[in-house]
Amino acid sequence: MPDRARILIIDDEADIRESLLTLLEMEGYSIDEAATAADGLRALDQVRYDLVLLDLMLPDKSGLDLLKEIRERDKDTPVCMITAYGSVEVAVNALKAGAQDYFSKPWDNEKLLIEIDRLIGKKRLEQENTQLKRALKQRYSFPNIIGKSERMTKVLDLVTQVSASRSTTVLITGETGTGKELIAKAIHAHSARADHTFVAVNSGSLPPDLLESTLFGHIKGAFTGAHATHKGYFELANRGTIFFDEIGTIGIETQAKLLRVIQEKEFMPLGSGDTVKVDVRILAATNEDLKKRMDEGRFREDLYYRLNVININLPPLRDRREDIPALVEHFFTKYCAENEKYVGSDGKSQIRFDEEAMKILMDHNWPGNIRELENVIERAVVLATHPVAGADVLPETLLHSQGFRIRQDESAPLPPDATLFEVVADYERRKIIEALEAAGGSQTEAAAKLGIPLSTLNQKIKRLSIDVRRRPGGSAGSQPG
Ligand SMILES: Nc1ncnc2c1ncn2[C@@H]1O[C@H](COP(=O)(O)OP(=O)(O)OP(=O)(O)O)[C@@H](O)[C@H]1O
Ligand SMILES: [Mg+2]
Repeated sequence: MPDRARILIIDDEADIRESLLTLLEMEGYSIDEAATAADGLRALDQVRYDLVLLDLMLPDKSGLDLLKEIRERDKDTPVCMITAYGSVEVAVNALKAGAQDYFSKPWDNEKLLIEIDRLIGKKRLEQENTQLKRALKQRYSFPNIIGKSERMTKVLDLVTQVSASRSTTVLITGETGTGKELIAKAIHAHSARADHTFVAVNSGSLPPDLLESTLFGHIKGAFTGAHATHKGYFELANRGTIFFDEIGTIGIETQAKLLRVIQEKEFMPLGSGDTVKVDVRILAATNEDLKKRMDEGRFREDLYYRLNVININLPPLRDRREDIPALVEHFFTKYCAENEKYVGSDGKSQIRFDEEAMKILMDHNWPGNIRELENVIERAVVLATHPVAGADVLPETLLHSQGFRIRQDESAPLPPDATLFEVVADYERRKIIEALEAAGGSQTEAAAKLGIPLSTLNQKIKRLSIDVRRRPGGSAGSQPG
């Protein structure tokens, strides 16, 4: 339910004010009254009204003059004139001076209410539109996020919209190296919380009990080794943002506690009986399929839906190759400055790739996405001996990646007395390799193609000891070990 709309009535006749007030308050509007132009202006200075009902005849000023003054101060608040004459001429003058509408005494309640509702609705819509436009403009102020492709433009629009809200939880998904953490930081930096702390929690790196004391803190003596009271990440992030990286790896018990913080905005430090209240925005990221994890019962359904209020999915780099040149440029600038190499007097980098090298970059599949590209550029800057860099500064893996090939021992056919188990395993292995190669090495895509959860694919890759590293060149490298 939106806020109650506020209406200001400026009319010197008490009974007119009274009957309008009764009528409008019954409709749920919040009403202020003024009997003179001076009082009316004072009220307008203090409150932003959704609508002003203005009498044409005031003791200290004509309604038309007051209307002009109101318009000078503020173009947007709709004004509706109340006239006793119903003369077309007066009405036309009022509309010319910027009134949205007029009605004459005595009025028809029904019609009046419909008109007021329409004016207020229209104004709110316009307001929302300007807010949205302003927000969208700010999208261009993500100097460290490169991406003009259609998919990245959509992502950045969403980031902008999400930043405008204070507490909406966002789940950021995407393959490794697609920029999930970068996006999380951008949401924080563009939100009303920007002046407070951004805390990133790598959910995967801590054992469950340590994770909990890290998150929620503990009091002195809560467990062996708790020599002093410690504030947890949630308290440190108060009024700021907390970012859960690799959220899928959090254990079921911690998930329950996290759910409680999201719902109640409070938690209990370990060993403490007192709850602590916090105001934090929660962002989470995952590069695995959380929904699958949920279907397998390893991720709480309620937590999943709480986190996934808004989903920002970062496209893999191979799906937005048009962004590669700008990214190359961006990382050249960064690493030339860092290495104090090929930096022009304008601070820009003086290095570029020749055509052949650029083509290789455009054609590569980028399983490690932007992080992989960034590493390639850093390496190129270090190795370059000429400001027009060629393919010789690119890593081997790129030079020979004519598509993605898995190293495998192709020569060994199954013996005729192979067991059913071995036959099945062999078939599975071939199918998985085929899918991985077709997906350019992306396990997420391969799992989708095979119609199995990513986690299942991971298990199978391990069990069947499939070497998922790319095979250099077109030649079949023999597999070590
Ligand atoms: N659109 C982009 N523009 C510029 N730099 C980017 C962009 N996206 C990612 N990067 C850079 O690429 C690197 C990897 O990004 P980040 O760490 O955010 O990825 P991630 O999705 O969190 O990866 P992982 O899943 O492995 O944790 C960072 O150095 C980041 O600054
Ligand atoms: Mg990350």
